[in-house]
Amino acid sequence: MAGLGAMPADALQSYVVLGELSLDGTITHVAGVLPAAIAANRQEKGLICPAPCGPEAAWAGSDIDILAPRSLIALANHFRGTQVLTRPEPAMQANAAGLPDLADIRGQESARRALEVAAAGGHNLMMIGPPGSGKSMLAQRLPSILPPLLPRELLEVSMIASIAGELTGGKLTDRRPFRAPHHSASMAAMVGGGIRARPGEVSLAHHGVLFLDEFPEFTPQVLDSLRQPLETGDCMIARANHRISYPAQIQLVAAMNPCRCGMAGEPGHSCARGPRCRLDYQARISGPLLDRIDIRIDVPAVSATDLIRPSVSEDSASVAQRVARARSIQKRRFEQLGFPSITTNAQCSVALIEQVAQPDGPGLALLQQASEQMRFSARAYHRVLKVARTLADLEGQETVGRIHLAEAISYRMSMDSSTLAA
Ligand SMILES: Nc1ncnc2c1ncn2[C@@H]1O[C@H](COP(=O)(O)OP(=O)(O)OP(=O)(O)O)[C@@H](O)[C@H]1O
Ligand SMILES: [Mg+2]
Repeated sequence: MAGLGAMPADALQSYVVLGELSLDGTITHVAGVLPAAIAANRQEKGLICPAPCGPEAAWAGSDIDILAPRSLIALANHFRGTQVLTRPEPAMQANAAGLPDLADIRGQESARRALEVAAAGGHNLMMIGPPGSGKSMLAQRLPSILPPLLPRELLEVSMIASIAGELTGGKLTDRRPFRAPHHSASMAAMVGGGIRARPGEVSLAHHGVLFLDEFPEFTPQVLDSLRQPLETGDCMIARANHRISYPAQIQLVAAMNPCRCGMAGEPGHSCARGPRCRLDYQARISGPLLDRIDIRIDVPAVSATDLIRPSVSEDSASVAQRVARARSIQKRRFEQLGFPSITTNAQCSVALIEQVAQPDGPGLALLQQASEQMRFSARAYHRVLKVARTLADLEGQETVGRIHLAEAISYRMSMDSSTLAA
C-alpha cells in the first residue's frame, strides 16, 4: 500500500505491523500480539495490529501508539485523516464468581488439609483413591483457594497465552491458569512443539496448576517429559533449525486410582489379579517422576455417614484467606533475602531452603531418623524441608519444628508404604 502511494511510507516507518489480511480487506486475528507490542515499545515504535488484538496490545504500556483497524481501508482512512482510529483500551476479563467451591465436599478432611498446604506453598500433589471418592472434585476446587496472579506473573502468563493464541478477545485475567489436559495428550501438546513451536500445556500452566487426572493413563514418555520442566521451571523445545525456551513454573496435581480395578487397599476388597494389579498399575509412573511429588495422599471412599450428614465443610473463601496469608509471608521473606523473583517455598533453591527452613533440635533428629529409615533421596530431603517450611508458614511460625516435619514426612509415605505392603 505504501509502495502504491495509498499510505504514507514515512508514517509507517515508526510502526511495527502485524496481522493477517483476508481477501475482502479485513485484518484478522493473529497470535503473539502482546509480546510483539512489548518488543515494539522497547524499540520506541508504535504497533499496527488487528482490531480484535487491540485490547491485548494496549497492555504493553500506556505510552505506546497503537492502531487497531478492522480493515485495510480503515487504516488508509486513518492516515488520510478522514476517520481517525482511537487507541484501544486494555481489557480485563471479568472474574465472574462461579468457581466450584470446597464447601461441596463432604468428609475428606485430610485431603482438604493437603490441598490447602499444596496451595499455600505451591507444592506438587498426588491423590490416590478408589473411584468416586472425590479426587477430581478436590483438584477442580484448587483454583478457588489460590491467590490471584501478581502483576509481573500476569504479564508472563498472558504473553504465553498470546503466543498460543489463547487470549479470548485480547482480555487478560489475574486468575491462575488451571490446565487439565486429557490423558491422550501427545508429547507436543504437553511440552510444546509443532510447526510454530507452540507452547505446550506445561507452559500454558505457568504460575498455575497442571492437573493430570488418571495419571497412569498418560503415556510413559509424556509423563517423563515433565521431569525436566518440573525441576528447572522452564521447557526447552529444540527443533532442527531453532530452539525456544518457554517458562514452565508449575504446580503439578495428579489423581489416580491405586490399581486398574480401582479398589486396591479398600477394606473388604481383593483385586482379581492380586497384588500384581496394584504393582503393574503404579509401575507406570517412573520413580524419578514420583520423587518430584512433595505431597502424596490417600483419598479413601467417602463414608455413608459423611454423605448423609448435612455438610459442615469450610468454604473456599476462608481457606483462601489462610493460603494468602502464608503466601505473603513467603513472598516477604524471599524479598528480604534479595530474591524477589521467588514467591513460594516450592520454587526456592536448595541452598536457600537450607537457610530458611533450619529445623529446631527435635525436628532435626526426626528428619535424620526418617531420612535414614525411608532412604530419602537428596531431592526428597529438600522437598520435605520445603513442605515443612510451608506448614510453619501456615501457622505463622518462624522456626520449623518437629510437628511440621512429622506432617511433611507423612505426606511422602503414602505410595511407598502401599507399594511396599503389596
Ligand atoms: N467427598 C465428596 N463429597 C461430595 N460428593 C462427592 C464426594 N466424592 C465424590 N462425590 C460425588 O461423586 C462424583 C464423582 O467424584 P469424582 O469425579 O471427584 O471422583 P474421582 O475420585 O475423581 O473418581 P475416579 O477415580 O473415577 O476418577 C462427584 O461429582 C460427586 O457428585
Ligand atoms: Mg476422577
